[in-house]
Amino acid sequence: MSGRIVLFGATGYTGDLTARALVARGVRPVLAARNRERLDALAAELGGLETRVADVAAPETLSGLVERGDVLVSTVGPFMRLGAPAVEAAIAAGAHYLDSTGEGPFIRAVFERYGPAAEAAGSGLVTAFGYDWVPGNLAAALALREAGEPATSVDIGYFVSGSAGAGTASGGTRASVLGLLLAPGYAFRDGRLVTEPAAKRLRGFDVGGRRAEGVTVASSEAFTLARLHPGLRDVNVYLGWAGSLSRALQVVSAGTSLLGRVPGARGAVGAILRPLAPGSTGGPDAEARSHVGSVIVAEAFDAGGTRLAAVKLSGVNPYDFTAAVLAWGAHAAADGGLQGAGALGPVDAFGLEALVRGCAEAGIARV
Ligand SMILES: NC(=O)c1ccc[n+]([C@@H]2O[C@H](COP(=O)([O-])OP(=O)(O)OC[C@H]3O[C@@H](n4cnc5c(N)ncnc54)[C@H](OP(=O)(O)O)[C@@H]3O)[C@@H](O)[C@H]2O)c1
Repeated sequence: MSGRIVLFGATGYTGDLTARALVARGVRPVLAARNRERLDALAAELGGLETRVADVAAPETLSGLVERGDVLVSTVGPFMRLGAPAVEAAIAAGAHYLDSTGEGPFIRAVFERYGPAAEAAGSGLVTAFGYDWVPGNLAAALALREAGEPATSVDIGYFVSGSAGAGTASGGTRASVLGLLLAPGYAFRDGRLVTEPAAKRLRGFDVGGRRAEGVTVASSEAFTLARLHPGLRDVNVYLGWAGSLSRALQVVSAGTSLLGRVPGARGAVGAILRPLAPGSTGGPDAEARSHVGSVIVAEAFDAGGTRLAAVKLSGVNPYDFTAAVLAWGAHAAADGGLQGAGALGPVDAFGLEALVRGCAEAGIARV
């Protein structure tokens, strides 16, 4: 392996899982986080790993964290609030960067604001490289390849299998979802990116013989898929793990998007709701995770609405997948397997065949 892997946020719920997934691959990452004591305890437990104290509240502590050829993996979120210093540090060093965000506005900033500077610096930025939104990118790329040139739109649905319920999301995920409901969303419509609220559309999918609904959400697929399939006009990504809450989510989101037009209202609603999603409260343990799996579907259509291809993936718990696929991606990038520079999608970064293998290694594959 030529470059070092530096994992920023190692002491958080997803960071800890990712550190263990890297070590399980035989990698010795440098662990970075803001709390020296917890960092040292984790580094000792994982076999005496190198550590660095870094805090986004003091961005100078991130300078020198990585060098050209290194890979910075960030699990420090919510990303809309805390994510920028890590991307900036990677670009300043000309290092590659992967993160665990699922937050649309942050993804949009990576593609629109940071991408050009990263390209000039020779840095590859692979944002949202977890359950949100890697398997949908993969399923859609496979469906579009099968459908061929006539395909002009793709629908993607993210679902969970098993007993999803209270306690199946980490504190960090709850904090990020709260931020998302309060932020303007976007979608790829009629060949371009447009701003639209989360949960604007709702549709049902056949998921393993049962009907499951999802609501639209801003994700990385809106930026990445048209690069692979230039005739693509519409990309709809549906979040289905809210189950019967999907319709309620539509109402909440419509309400918060209306509120968003009132000056100061988003901040006020955020202040009221924030105690419900304090972040850094840990997440489901291995036993709880083992009861919840992943199901992702992608359907490609022609301009007349005829379905041309359908792909279904399934596998492990979203958190286990996130940690394992981040570890796979970082390992591949440190070994020279990341193609190109600038803001990249999962398929442009690693190539379709490598991504199929990486996702399968991380526990999600086509069924
Ligand atoms: N894409 C996906 O499918 C997926 C899956 C899992 C998680 N996520 C996202 O990943 C992020 C982390 O989730 P999580 O469950 O691991 O949350 P978490 O346990 O709250 O972890 C957040 C991390 O950020 C660190 N942090 C907070 N403020 C910081 C600061 N000022 N400087 C440096 N580090 C700071 C925390 O440090 P301390 O340890 O010191 O508190 C912690 O390590 C969230 O945004 C979540 O939505 C996405």
